[in-house]
Amino acid sequence: MSNTHSDALVFFGATGDLAYKKIFPALQAMVKRGHLDVPVVGVAKSGWNLENLRARARDSIEKHGGIDPQAFERLSSLLRYVDGDYQDAATFKAIRGELGTAQRPAHYLAIPPALFETVVNQLAEEECAAGPGCSGGARVIVEKPFGHDQASARHLNEILHHVFPESAIFRIDHYLGKRPVNNVVVFRFANAFMEPFWNRNYIESVQITMAENFGVEGRGAFYDQTGTVRDVIQNHLFQIVSNLAMEPPVRNDAESIRDEKVKVLKAARAVEPRDVVRGQFRGYCQEKGVSENSTTETFAALRLEVDSWRWKGVPFFIRAGKCLPVTCTEVLARFRKPPTFLQGKAPTRNYLRFRISPEMAIAVGTIVMGERESMEGQAVEMVASRRPCPEEMEAYERVLGDAMAGDSSHFAREDYVEEAWRIVDPILKDPTPVHEYEKFTWGPSAATGSLVPSGGWHDPAGVESENSAAGEQAA
Ligand code: BG6
Repeated sequence: MSNTHSDALVFFGATGDLAYKKIFPALQAMVKRGHLDVPVVGVAKSGWNLENLRARARDSIEKHGGIDPQAFERLSSLLRYVDGDYQDAATFKAIRGELGTAQRPAHYLAIPPALFETVVNQLAEEECAAGPGCSGGARVIVEKPFGHDQASARHLNEILHHVFPESAIFRIDHYLGKRPVNNVVVFRFANAFMEPFWNRNYIESVQITMAENFGVEGRGAFYDQTGTVRDVIQNHLFQIVSNLAMEPPVRNDAESIRDEKVKVLKAARAVEPRDVVRGQFRGYCQEKGVSENSTTETFAALRLEVDSWRWKGVPFFIRAGKCLPVTCTEVLARFRKPPTFLQGKAPTRNYLRFRISPEMAIAVGTIVMGERESMEGQAVEMVASRRPCPEEMEAYERVLGDAMAGDSSHFAREDYVEEAWRIVDPILKDPTPVHEYEKFTWGPSAATGSLVPSGGWHDPAGVESENSAAGEQAA
């Protein structure tokens, strides 16, 4: 372990949903890979003890990926538990006690942002983050959404900066832990043929669809306060936009990469009400935790204009929703039409397709001569890469490992989150009407009426077969 690596992990919200679904499986995977061998202190206010936490960890991992006996035993031995109120200094004294000789703990706040201030200040008071008990190498890892608008994000940044320098703050967006999201950047900058056409001269529009064929899954109370724009667009999908639109970083270090991403957002105009359609699936208001007259969106489609040298005039269409027909995240960039001489009804436009999930694919839609004797075109996809990624590192494993190693490349910087909120603030402050849509359809008809990329929305299919038919729809 290097002397910049965190020497303990403290996670607040240890008995919560996120810990159950994502954190315990990630911890076991980290142990298995040899990336975690320091005390792991779970903190919550549930009246539990260490044995309860271990049982919860076992149950969580059994349901999400399966137990690896050796790795789980090691993880169990690393686990500690502190039960207590976040307002109470005794809780933080107990954490300090469990940290033992650790000097550089990483504190992971898997708790609602309303509790950040209390927890961060208590950490400082009780020498868990600075002062004689800590060498000053402590880190803080925070969950998304980071605030609910630009003003609240600024406020949270101030609170964190009160105790931690920016270099010690890791704002999680688990999409940055996904290989296919990062592969967009690699594919763009490692292939010389990309550069001449990856700009406003050749690309007509870019669209990103993040579809989920399930609803709010017991998270109604959280979701109703959040909605699609805050839940996935302002963070996950803007990260994809940034990877698609950024300029090559001047160096490969975290700050140089993050500088370029921020520039994309700075170049993006704030979204105007006429550039958004919001939808809500039928029956949403009957979900547990949801207000009966809720106007929160479970679907949103919007148009983003990035006024950079490279992209000015190329609309970026973004669409995300719950209870859509499939679960899939896919990017489709359409080329401008060539002045073709081809006959017939064959598609005439090329495209580049990045499939982010459920599996990774990068493909180019091309036109070749059809089977008949006439000069008719036929769509064919050239697949650069297609992988199911079974042994993939899960996103949470990657981001937690990176944060503990002090690598900020895959985390949102202060200026980035504030810019991201600036772009959506107008449509959050003054929401447009919400249109009802039937479950398992592609959202309200308004999204296919007023907000449509030229050539139409590309509705991604479910899990891909070897011979994907995306070409037919995409052109
Ligand atoms: C989370 C959102 O951040 O991302 C969820 O809160 C969403 O609503 C999830 O379902 C999607 O993540 P993934 O990794 O399953 O695509």
